[in-house]
Amino acid sequence: MKNLGILLSGRGSNFVALADSIAAGRIPGARIAIVISNRADAPGIETARQRGLEALVIPSKGKEREVHDREVVAALNHRHVDLVCLAGYMRLLSPWFVRQFPQRILNIHPSLLPAFPGLEAQQQAFAYGVKVSGCTVHFVDEELDHGAIIVQKTVPVLDSDDEHTLADRILEQEHIAYSEAINMVLEGTFEIAGRRLRRTRRL
Ligand code: GRF
Repeated sequence: MKNLGILLSGRGSNFVALADSIAAGRIPGARIAIVISNRADAPGIETARQRGLEALVIPSKGKEREVHDREVVAALNHRHVDLVCLAGYMRLLSPWFVRQFPQRILNIHPSLLPAFPGLEAQQQAFAYGVKVSGCTVHFVDEELDHGAIIVQKTVPVLDSDDEHTLADRILEQEHIAYSEAINMVLEGTFEIAGRRLRRTRRL
């Protein structure tokens, strides 16, 4: 059984989608060992508790990045976490944190990277006028929204869209993409050359 550690700062819909996937048997061999938020008011923490999962708030405010990261990593290690899943975690990880989990930290971002990294990616893409956007699940490295890409899903931008309807359709794809990426990583059915990740057998 592999232990997932979920880090979030807000709503937590990607966390809920993962919890639902696990409950439905779509991520075999994985369990959510802990949900951690850096913000006490993150709705995702309340949801985690309602679902009977261990949920921890480790406030980041006023702490140096690495000091906070050391507290988070200690909590993850204490639960023997194998894979760290960032799900709307609004913090850049320190290089020290990244080194503790080599190729074992994933992030989901609501654009087709490398386009539109950073905040409000869906709005950035919409305002830019792209005709296709989507989402990316990638390994986390020391740069923001940057590591090797695991899964991408495309979403067409419709003439009838506004930035909210586009973000909603991207979010639907995020919920599918994250489970798919976690399965790939847990099964080890890939190889990486440079930044390029290639499946070594179909799921
Ligand atoms: C998602 O759009 C995700 O791609 C981004 O932050 C948002 C988190 O949403 N990294 P939620 O908290 O999972 O609902």
